[in-house]
Amino acid sequence: MSDSIVWRNGELWIEDVPAARLAAEHGTPLYVYSRRHIEQQFRRLQSALSELQPTIHFALKANGNLAITRLLARLGAGADIVSGGELDIALRAGVAPDRLVFAGVGKTRAEIEAALRAGIGIFIVESEPELARISACAVALGRTARVAIRVNPDVDPKTHVYTTTGRRETKFGVDLERAARVFELAASLPALEIAGLHMHLGSPLADEQPYAEALDKVAPLCRRLSERHPTFRVLDLGGGFGIPYRPRQPEFPLDAFAAAIIPRVRALGLRLAIEPGRFLLGNACVLLATVQYIKDNPFRQFVILDAGMNDLIRPPLYGAWHDIRPVRPRAGERIHVDVVGPICESGDFLGKDRRLPPLEEGDLLAIFGTGAYGMAMASNYNGRGRAAEILVDGARAGVIRAREGVEDLVRPMRIPEWLDAPPS
Ligand code: LLP
Repeated sequence: MSDSIVWRNGELWIEDVPAARLAAEHGTPLYVYSRRHIEQQFRRLQSALSELQPTIHFALKANGNLAITRLLARLGAGADIVSGGELDIALRAGVAPDRLVFAGVGKTRAEIEAALRAGIGIFIVESEPELARISACAVALGRTARVAIRVNPDVDPKTHVYTTTGRRETKFGVDLERAARVFELAASLPALEIAGLHMHLGSPLADEQPYAEALDKVAPLCRRLSERHPTFRVLDLGGGFGIPYRPRQPEFPLDAFAAAIIPRVRALGLRLAIEPGRFLLGNACVLLATVQYIKDNPFRQFVILDAGMNDLIRPPLYGAWHDIRPVRPRAGERIHVDVVGPICESGDFLGKDRRLPPLEEGDLLAIFGTGAYGMAMASNYNGRGRAAEILVDGARAGVIRAREGVEDLVRPMRIPEWLDAPPS
C-alpha cells in the first residue's frame, strides 16, 4: 500500500525510522506520516494528468496540519478550503492565495470577506443566495470575486451515503436543469467574474467511471458557457480519488482515469482543476496505539487500546475498514478479536472480528490508512486530549502537532462568577 511504510524483519518502519522508537519517544496514540509517500502520490497524480497541466488543490479538510499543508504548498499544490479556519491555515502554510478554491454550502459573510481580502482564486458557489451574498461583499470591499458554480450532476459515485455529494437529494451544488440560470444570475450581479464550473461527486470513488459520466452530462452546458462568457475557463472535477484500505484492494486506476478525463476536458478547451485529499494522504500514515487490556467475556475477546473513536471515527461513522497489525512480530495462532477504544460507547471500535496473534498489555498496534480524515475528525470526547502527530523524512522525525493535555481542554472554558454566588 505504501513503499514508505514497510516491514523489516517483521517490525514496522516509517521510512528509515522504526515505529516502536517513535512510540517510545512520543507516547501513543500517535499519528505518524511519511513525507516520501505524500510526495510520491502528488507526483503520480501530476504525471498521470500532465498533458492537461491541471492545478492541484489539496483538500485541506482531509488533514489540516500546517506542516503537511506547507509540504504540499512547496510541491506547488493549491488548496481546497471550506471555512475561514482552513483559509487561515492555508495562508500560514504558504499556499499562494490565487491557488485557493473555497467551497461549502454555508459560507458566512465574515468568511467571504476574509477570502476576498486575501485575494483567493475562486469561490465555489453552491446556491443563488450565496451568489448574491458574495456579490454584495465584493461590492462593499471594492473587489471582484471570481466564481465557479458547483453543479450537482446527479451521478451515483457508488460510495457511502454520508460521503455521496453528487446526487440530487444532497445539499450540494445546483442541479443541472437550474445551472444555466444560476450562471446567468452570476453574469447579472455586480463584482462577479464567471471563472468556471465545479463538481465533486463523493468520496472515496473506486474508478473513473462516475467522473466520465458526470463530464458527459455537463459537457453541453460547458460548451454554451464558453461561448457566452469569455472568462469561463476552469473545470474543477473535485476530489474523491480512492485508495486501497485492504491489503489486496486495487489502487485507484490512474491510467484509466487519465484516459477517460483528458480527451473529454481537452474537447471542451477548459483548464482542469482537481481537489484530492485522501489520495495524497490516506496511506501516508499509521496511527500507533498501545494495548491497555485484554478482556474476555464468554462471547468475545476484546483488545482495548489507548486510541478510540475520538482519535479515529471512521470505523463507527462509516463502517470503514482499517488494517490493524502489531508493530513487532508476535508468535502464536491468530484468533478473532474486537479491537476497541476506552470510550463509553459500544460504537467505540477500531476493528471488529479481526484475526490477530495473541496480544498482551503494552503491545503496540498500527492502524493503517489513517492519514486522511483521521486526525482531521478527532475530538475531545470523554475529556481526551487529541493525539500528537509526527512527520518522518528519511531517518528524521519531527513533531508537527504536540499532544493535547488537560490544560488545552480547559483553556476555552469559563465558570461564570454567579455560579458560585450565594442564592439571592
Ligand atoms: N472537494 C470537495 C468539494 C469535497 O467535499 C471533498 C471531500 C474533497 C474535495 C476531497 O475528497 P477526497 O479526495 O479526500 O476524497 N470524512 C469522510 C470523507 C468526507 C469527504 C468530504 N469531502 C471519510 O472519512 O471518508
